[in-house]
Amino acid sequence: AHQWRGVIREYADRLPVNENTKVITLGEGGTPLVYAPALSAHTGNEVYLKVEGMNPTGSFKDRGMTMAMTAAVAAGAKAVVCASTGNTSASAAAYATQAGLKCAVLVPDGKISMGKMSQAIAHGADIIQIDGNFDNCLEVARKLSENYPVFLVNSVNPARIQGQKTGAFEVVDFLGDAPDYHLLPVGNAGNITAYWKGYKEYSTEWTNEAGKVLEPVSTKNPIMWGFQAAGAAPIVAGHPITEPDTIATAIRIGNPASWEQAEVARDESGGQIDSVTDEQILEAHRWLSSREGVFVEPASAAGVAGLLKHHAAGNVPTGKKIVITVTGHGLKDPDWALKQSDGSDVAPKKVALDVVEVAGALGLA
Ligand code: F0G
Repeated sequence: AHQWRGVIREYADRLPVNENTKVITLGEGGTPLVYAPALSAHTGNEVYLKVEGMNPTGSFKDRGMTMAMTAAVAAGAKAVVCASTGNTSASAAAYATQAGLKCAVLVPDGKISMGKMSQAIAHGADIIQIDGNFDNCLEVARKLSENYPVFLVNSVNPARIQGQKTGAFEVVDFLGDAPDYHLLPVGNAGNITAYWKGYKEYSTEWTNEAGKVLEPVSTKNPIMWGFQAAGAAPIVAGHPITEPDTIATAIRIGNPASWEQAEVARDESGGQIDSVTDEQILEAHRWLSSREGVFVEPASAAGVAGLLKHHAAGNVPTGKKIVITVTGHGLKDPDWALKQSDGSDVAPKKVALDVVEVAGALGLA
C-alpha cells in the first residue's frame, strides 16, 4: 500500500529541492478535504474543509516547517529560532528534533494555549516568554537571526511559503480543478500568500528549479477570502494594531509580516480580507464540532465564520465549490469546547451505577 511521503517528496518537482537534498519530514500534508454537509445545505454550495489539524503536530505549519528545517540543515545551521503564537513553535520544535538542531521559540507571555506550549516543551525547545505580543517576538527573532548563529524559521523565510503552497496543490489534485472560492484565517498572512502562490503555479505552465517546464494542472484560480479577528484586523483597518486582542490567540497579530502579499492575493483573485468577531469565531467553532464532526481550535474557524457572516449578509452566491482551510486541531486549545454559548461551563451529568438510572438520564426510559 502507498504511504504518503510528506510534501517535499510528493511535490519534489515543484519545490526548491533536488535528489541530494537531505529531507527532514514527519509525513506532513496529504490532509483530508472533508465535505461539509451542513455548511453546504445552509449556503446552497458544495463546501469542503481542508482539515489541517491532521498534520503531524496538528496544524498547517508542518507543510512549511519540513521545507524550512530542510533548508536549515542544508545551510549547515546548528540552531533555529522562531516567534510564535503557538503552532509554529510546536512545529519547529518537532522538526528540529528530527533534524538534530537546537530550537528556540519566542512566545507572547500568557497568550499561547496549553496544548501548543506542551508540544514545545515535550520536544525540548528553549521556550522564551516575552512581555509583548507576537509582533514584538518576531522583531526579536529577526534580530537574533541577523546577529547570532541561529536560523529563522518563521514564514518570512521563503522556504516556509514554498512548503505551505502544497495545500493548494492538494485541493486541486482532489477536486480535479481549483474551487470557485477559497476561504481561510489570516494572522501573519503567510498562509494566504502560500495558497495563492500554489494556485497560480498550478494554473499556468511553470518552469521548475531544474528548468523543466510543467504543464498546468488547473484551469482557473479561486477567489480568495481571508478573515482576521476583529480585534486583530490590521489589513482590514489599513494600519498596524499595536494592542491586538482576540480569544483566537493563534491570530492575535497586529502587523503581519506578509501584509503586502496578502493584499496581492486579495486583489489578483478579486477577493477580500475582512474581519469576524470573537462571537462569530466561537459560533463557527461550535458549528464545526457539533454539525460537521470536525474539531478545530478557535482561530481555525475564522474562515467558516466569514462564510456564515457573508451568507447572512447575502454576499455568497449558490452552486459554487467553496474550500475552507481549517488550520489547527481542536485539541490544541480544548478549553473552548467546555463552555456553552452563554459562557457557562458544560457539566457532564452524574448518575448512579445503575442501568435504569443511566437510561433515564439519556431519555431512553
Ligand atoms: N490558524 C492557526 C491555527 C494559526 O496558528 C495561524 C498562525 C493562522 C491561522 C494564521 O496563519 O499567520 O499564515 O496568516 N499562527 C502563527 C504561529 C502565527 O505562530 O503559530 P498566517
